[in-house]
Amino acid sequence: MASNLNRAAWLHKAGTPLEVGEAPMPTAGPNELVIRNAAVAINPLDCHMQSASVFVQQWPSIFGCDVAGVVHEVGSDVHERFKVGDRVIGHAINLTSGRPQDGAFALYTTIPASKAAILPSSIPFTTGVVVPFALEAAVCALSVKQPGTALPNVPTPALGLPYPSLTTTTTPKKTLIIYGGSSSVGSMATQLATAAGIHVLAIASARNFDLCRACGAAAVFDYHDASFVDDVVQAATTAVEVEGGEFVGIFDAVSTPETYANGLAMLERLGGSHLACVHPPPEEVPEGVKAGMIFAVDEVATPVWRDYVTDALAAGRLKCLPSPLVVGKGLEFVQVALEKCVEGVSAAKLVVEL
Ligand SMILES: NC(=O)c1ccc[n+]([C@@H]2O[C@H](COP(=O)([O-])OP(=O)(O)OC[C@H]3O[C@@H](n4cnc5c(N)ncnc54)[C@H](OP(=O)(O)O)[C@@H]3O)[C@@H](O)[C@H]2O)c1
Repeated sequence: MASNLNRAAWLHKAGTPLEVGEAPMPTAGPNELVIRNAAVAINPLDCHMQSASVFVQQWPSIFGCDVAGVVHEVGSDVHERFKVGDRVIGHAINLTSGRPQDGAFALYTTIPASKAAILPSSIPFTTGVVVPFALEAAVCALSVKQPGTALPNVPTPALGLPYPSLTTTTTPKKTLIIYGGSSSVGSMATQLATAAGIHVLAIASARNFDLCRACGAAAVFDYHDASFVDDVVQAATTAVEVEGGEFVGIFDAVSTPETYANGLAMLERLGGSHLACVHPPPEEVPEGVKAGMIFAVDEVATPVWRDYVTDALAAGRLKCLPSPLVVGKGLEFVQVALEKCVEGVSAAKLVVEL
């Protein structure tokens, strides 16, 4: 259905600013929702899509992964989970579908019902919108069970950890290091791992220790301290001795040469195990280490969206962290927010209100 109701921030060519203009009105196919977006969030990946057209499949393009808003239309087969007027958050999948209607940077976006959850009335849209893509990435990092080939020649990680639960605690404890505990993906991974009963040791700047602890980290280490690699190894060793269970590996939510070097040094001393990365893994790893890259686009997160997110948000168990940094109101501010994202953030998610 063509309509001038919708507007979007379009990318017409790699390396150019987004241009706000009319867009076709999306319609909801089977198992889809159309959302009237009240807020969208910016992810580092969006900057790569703009600068280098990574993952852009169709021109002009509407991209963006995170939406919060009100259900405008419900597709067939959605059943009773969502109805028109519900407040929701959701993960927009233009990244994989390539369809402009699946991009977040618009007034109306189509999302799969399997990647949406109810947002309680007590949580503002600008706060709830920090969750979706970080949740997708974190679940993939933690819960993928088998190494695979989501990207050619790039092995996927296989930490194979349990899904988060409102009730379960894992005994004996598994101990996991989360490198980049104050990042969007790292802080969400800390929350989800903790909610699965995992003992988390987080690595972040000292100014963000409180955030990491609020997400459930048992201990936090400052990567600016000269002794932090030794300190983390010591804490992981002690945790296994005291808590019982096993050391399961590192989720490196930063994945730079520096974090790879430090992470591999830790794994070598802790006796191998998994290194789950957000970018292609290091080519050379010590014997016994299995390294792989997450690829947050498959159905791994569906059970978490379906069985956990709505109830955990309502119960206050899933917190919308890191806090939003609202850049402005209106689609014109998406470009401003993308530029701020290139500059980098610390323990914050850049958000645009619509
Ligand atoms: N492969 C995938 O499917 C996938 C999915 C999502 C994201 N990603 C990638 O994952 C990365 C993280 O995304 P994001 O949105 O979570 O990023 P973000 O929130 O923008 O990351 C900022 C955070 O990184 C932390 N950081 C930077 N250098 C660090 C270091 N050396 N040690 C520890 N922490 C460090 C900072 O911590 P402090 O301020 O505390 O120093 C800051 O809070 C991006 O590169 C993104 O492209 C990949």
